[in-house]
Amino acid sequence: MKFSATTIVAFAGLAAAAPTKRQSGPTDADILNYALTLEHLEDTFYREGLANFTQADFEAAGYDETFYGNLKRISSDESTHVSFLTGALKAAGATPVEACQYAFGVTDVNTFLVTASVLEGVGVSAYLGAAADIMSKTYLTAAGSILTVEARHSSYIRASLKQTPYPQPFDTPLSINSVYTLAAQFIISCPSTNPALPVKAFPVLAASSSDMSIKKGSTVMLSTPGYMLKAENDAPVYGAFITVTGPIIVNATMVEGGYEVVVPEGVNGQSYVVLTGCADAVNDNTVAAGPAIVEAS
Ligand SMILES: *[C@@H]1O[C@H](CO)[C@@H](O)[C@H](O)[C@H]1NC(C)=O
Ligand SMILES: *[C@@H]1O[C@H](CO)[C@@H](O)[C@H](O)[C@H]1NC(C)=O
Repeated sequence: MKFSATTIVAFAGLAAAAPTKRQSGPTDADILNYALTLEHLEDTFYREGLANFTQADFEAAGYDETFYGNLKRISSDESTHVSFLTGALKAAGATPVEACQYAFGVTDVNTFLVTASVLEGVGVSAYLGAAADIMSKTYLTAAGSILTVEARHSSYIRASLKQTPYPQPFDTPLSINSVYTLAAQFIISCPSTNPALPVKAFPVLAASSSDMSIKKGSTVMLSTPGYMLKAENDAPVYGAFITVTGPIIVNATMVEGGYEVVVPEGVNGQSYVVLTGCADAVNDNTVAAGPAIVEAS
């Protein structure tokens, strides 16, 4: 892509804000590469979806020309985020990650939009969760300016699915490892030349219910391939719904195939629940599996 004058000015600013490192935790270059990992995923997703489905396919599914044009705009935003972060990493002397191979499991316009909504929501939670780890204020502002745009994408796609565009007064920050756990489910393999990131995926946790949107107070089933291991000891297991003010922790009841939890008051829209043995806190040392995504209403 050709960089405009303003883009070059922005890169110069980012280069001046060389990555700094705190005593422990990820460097700013790690965080930018983590963001770039997600942007590559989104960018590929929209380009693939717009190659899979024509404007006529969207119209047949009930989405008009304006909507299709706006999807193309989202796709272009994601491509711009990729080139922006790639340029910022290069300007800082770091090696940017390249796109991976993905499996999105999209079969029609509807599954495309449902997956788009999940990805945009995870993107918002990823940038929000990483914000506190970014050392450079210049990078923080750049990441914030991407976060707000991802939030608009999320609202627009949620509205198109007849979901509340802004389902709660606070968005949910997710840790880098939690986001990576969700993103890794779409990744088949990445180029071996990509720099290794300080991330790990937790065991996958899947939420299922008869409804796409789960009412608060109703039960959702959480299943993880590792649940039999847990079943061997008697320690209690909890479901922790992540929120900005701390987790909302509920009992997880073992059932055939996994655990059941009741969706609590205080979560709305695209929500995230982890299984944990810890009754009062959630951190990377206490997550047993997840997060799973629960669309709560
Ligand atoms: C595009 O189509 C392929 C083949 O049906 C499918 O596997 C993939 O998930 C689709 N991707 C998107 C983003 O629509
Ligand atoms: C969770 O389980 C504990 C122990 O069985 C019980 O005392 C408590 O009332 C349960 N909490 C809820 C919200 O069901």
